[in-house]
Amino acid sequence: MKISVAQIPPTTIPYGKTCIVIDVLRATSVITVLLDLGVKEIYPTATIEEARILKKSLETSNKKVLLLGERDGLPPEGFDHGNSPTALLENPSVPLVAVQATTNGTPALLSCYGASSVIAAAPLNLSTSCKHAVNSGNDVLIVCAGLRGKFAEDDMLAAGMFVEKLVSLGGTITDSATEALTLYKKSEKFFAESLRRTEHGQKTFELGFNNDIEKCAEIDKYKVFGVLSKIFDRPCIIPNTN
Ligand code: MLT
Repeated sequence: MKISVAQIPPTTIPYGKTCIVIDVLRATSVITVLLDLGVKEIYPTATIEEARILKKSLETSNKKVLLLGERDGLPPEGFDHGNSPTALLENPSVPLVAVQATTNGTPALLSCYGASSVIAAAPLNLSTSCKHAVNSGNDVLIVCAGLRGKFAEDDMLAAGMFVEKLVSLGGTITDSATEALTLYKKSEKFFAESLRRTEHGQKTFELGFNNDIEKCAEIDKYKVFGVLSKIFDRPCIIPNTN
């Protein structure tokens, strides 16, 4: 099992691979929290408009749907919730179905749709998501969500943490994975602070979401992780624990 890291989402489908998609601040961390709160289906969309339409269409079949996500870090107009994991935890009663649209995280997940397996992962579910990836028997591609198509240090730091775990589970490292691991090893003792110092971390901090940074830096707080599946012919994240 070879482990590689993509600094930004792939432009062609990574056929045959198991993709571990990471948007540590904050989309895949939010997905983990939602699944732990009992959400059974999370539909990621590429745009805000698509998310609004999908919520309406799912609600016609009498489903209550949580519409959440962000633009520039804040809840888009008419959304039920932004992209804050700690705000979700303050109000933990959520419907069973959610639609999520974020700037980088949900497009990154969708860019891997069609790969052998796609896991929505974060430090919050490091061990279980890595074990699942190893059990798939495929080569693993860790996909960083990045920032609007460019390298984002926060995701690379988290990717390095995943590389370390996957190597401990028997994975073979490649050059791209070594780069992420080296970055992570410099910061592992003060991981939350390192996330906060990144460009995206600074922006998140300035918007008043320091609690989110602390939360997203927690390791192995949850067993549940999301797997990208297909429901009603659409990409949908469903919970898994093994
Ligand atoms: C994204 O998808 O770009 C992020 O999750 C943004 C955020 O929540 O700050």
